[in-house]
Amino acid sequence: MRDTDEPIRSRARALLKLPSATADIDTNDMDPGDFGRGERIFVAHCGQCHKSDETGNANFGPDLATIRHWPRQALLDKIKNPQRSIASGYEQWRITLTNGNSLDGVIAAETPTTVTMLTLTKAHTLRRDDIAKLTALPGSAMPAELDAAMSREDLIDLLSFLLHANAPR
Ligand code: HEC
Repeated sequence: MRDTDEPIRSRARALLKLPSATADIDTNDMDPGDFGRGERIFVAHCGQCHKSDETGNANFGPDLATIRHWPRQALLDKIKNPQRSIASGYEQWRITLTNGNSLDGVIAAETPTTVTMLTLTKAHTLRRDDIAKLTALPGSAMPAELDAAMSREDLIDLLSFLLHANAPR
């Protein structure tokens, strides 16, 4: 199912033609940021979906302990335009059930008889017999423009936390 839908998904993404992120931060010449404050910003803005090592317990999105090698600019771009590149295995799908209801989310597990979908609020394990259709959705399950609710200083501190730059020993 995933393989056959891939061309549709790529085409949908190409059509989006999103502008590049333009946060007002020079990532080559930037303050180190405040790690502790960054952790609080992470909990407030990212923590309902992500964890990072010992901080948080959400698993809707990937564990962000694995992104410490990312260039700062790539991270800022992801925060602004998540749909530009989607973490593999976290593509968004719509499951339409035979009773007409539908669920959007990330597919967490599949067995020969069931599909488990994570929505923001919970994991749903559905019987394949009850599924009428699985559709790949373009875009990310991560909301766009999360930087809009943050100041420049917030973003710099958040980067310090995410990249473990300037972390207390
Ligand atoms: C509503 C849930 C939600 C929120 C809030 C959210 N994310 Fe995400 N995030 C996701 C999902 C789902 C993915 C996987 C799909 C994707 O890559 O777009 C993801 C992916 C990512 C990735 C890519 C990880 C990888 O391994 O490729 C990064 C980096 C990231 N998020 C950072 C953040 C940061 C920083 C914040 C807070 C400013 C945040 N996210 C807030 C849901 C969320």
